Amino acid sequence: MAHPSPKRFPDDSYYTETSDIQAETETVLLKHLPADPNSLPSLQKNQHLQFLVRHLVQGFPSRYASQDASQPWLLYWTLQGLSVAGVGLDPDNKQRAIDTILAWQHPDGGFSGGPGQAAHLLPTYGSICSLAIAGRPGPGGGWDQIDREKMYKFFMSLKQPDGSFLVAHHAEVDVRGTYCLLVSAYLLDLLTPELVEGTAAFIASCQTYEGGFSSASQPYFSPTSDGQPNLLESPRPSLGEAHGGYTFCSVASWVMLQPFLALQPPDVRRPTINYRTLVRWLTQMQGSESELGGFKGRTNKLVDGCYSWWVAGCFSLLASQGIGGGQGHDTRQSGSTTDDETWDDVDDSLWNRTALQQYILCAGQHPNGGLRDKPPKVADAYHTLYCLAGLSAAQHNVFPSPARRAELQHAWATSTDSPHHELRQTVFAEALSWTEEEGTSNVEGGHINRVNATHPLFNLTITHSEGIMAHFYHQTLPKRQRRG
Ligand code: FPP
Ligand code: ZN
Repeated sequence: MAHPSPKRFPDDSYYTETSDIQAETETVLLKHLPADPNSLPSLQKNQHLQFLVRHLVQGFPSRYASQDASQPWLLYWTLQGLSVAGVGLDPDNKQRAIDTILAWQHPDGGFSGGPGQAAHLLPTYGSICSLAIAGRPGPGGGWDQIDREKMYKFFMSLKQPDGSFLVAHHAEVDVRGTYCLLVSAYLLDLLTPELVEGTAAFIASCQTYEGGFSSASQPYFSPTSDGQPNLLESPRPSLGEAHGGYTFCSVASWVMLQPFLALQPPDVRRPTINYRTLVRWLTQMQGSESELGGFKGRTNKLVDGCYSWWVAGCFSLLASQGIGGGQGHDTRQSGSTTDDETWDDVDDSLWNRTALQQYILCAGQHPNGGLRDKPPKVADAYHTLYCLAGLSAAQHNVFPSPARRAELQHAWATSTDSPHHELRQTVFAEALSWTEEEGTSNVEGGHINRVNATHPLFNLTITHSEGIMAHFYHQTLPKRQRRG
């Protein structure tokens, strides 16, 4: 049976360049639906793996030259793409990766986009996450060669009076930098109250009237001649348009800041974000039937495979805060219950997981291997990872398990006299409490299409997240006793 003609995205009969591109995109996408609506294409895992491995072994082709300052990202997209697809590296390639990453470490702290370049928060994330995948403890293993002290100083040197961070010295403020800093601080045990004081309020100020988040907000301080910032009274309006990439970075940062906020004295005013408008905006980013259920990054723009992670990935982050979500999700923020069993009848339909898998399988895969934004574009390393990670988010329920959190807290083996002990213990237990809910995965097109679950905050596998955090927090992970 052929597909019934899906309804096209509505227009207002006032045709512009962008409404024409929207119509053309739908026409192309609809041609990618299989003739039989009941059979989805398979994930061409082998071809995608070959695409990723080719970059690793032969190097990136010259069309990547413009990404010379993003070398850690190219490596991270490749290594994490392989991890989501279920493939590990051999020892030689691991060592090559470690040595390459260490050449990006800046002598004054943090990592750069390439050897000899300036340290920057974004390549710092790419480098640390790549080391989480390829590295190991001990001499030459990469982990113990990270200069954490200098990195912390680098982070503090970027801090602004309103709680935000410059992405690099003499550069701009951007929530992507905040996200990259927080992930690096989480993985390397560098989080202190001093580092993140004011950061949650900054993140909250980036939420726009639409509900999603923009890249930054108007600073609420101005420089004065004595070098002391002049703090303004008025609220800080967000700067620019709500966008899926910034929204992911903001929501993930928001979740990572919760352990810090929870330890604040009760008389300290806590910043808030508007979950209702956020959920409305996120759900409206999922494309219609004629867009095959892919996600877009901003209002009235085109669907694109990478938002399968940046936007759809936000739903599990929200579920961790008691918003939406399905079985077993922790509901501490909504205050209703923490009992897993009571969630069996929850409606888990804020977004359409089946439709997103359809977009990725039908439109996201390039016939020659690798994944892409949309047809007829070519595949690239960035879209290969974020389509695979989005497929993973659509297939698996990963949520912070109260049972696992309790096990991790109970097994915590660090002196209570150590600095910021309570915050560090909470960060460790919260981060590693994320657990895949067994038996609830929703893999469209058969088991062959299954990819690994990935950590909703870091976009590393759970195993890689556990390995690097156990090392830096000096903890032995307790065996998982109970499900959920
Ligand atoms: C617009 O591109 C893209 C942006 C404004 C920023 C995107 C940011 C991310 C994807 C987040 C990256 C995250 C980290 C951690 C570095 P466009 O105009 O080409 O695309 P669009 O039409 O889909 O908005
Ligand atoms: Zn994209």
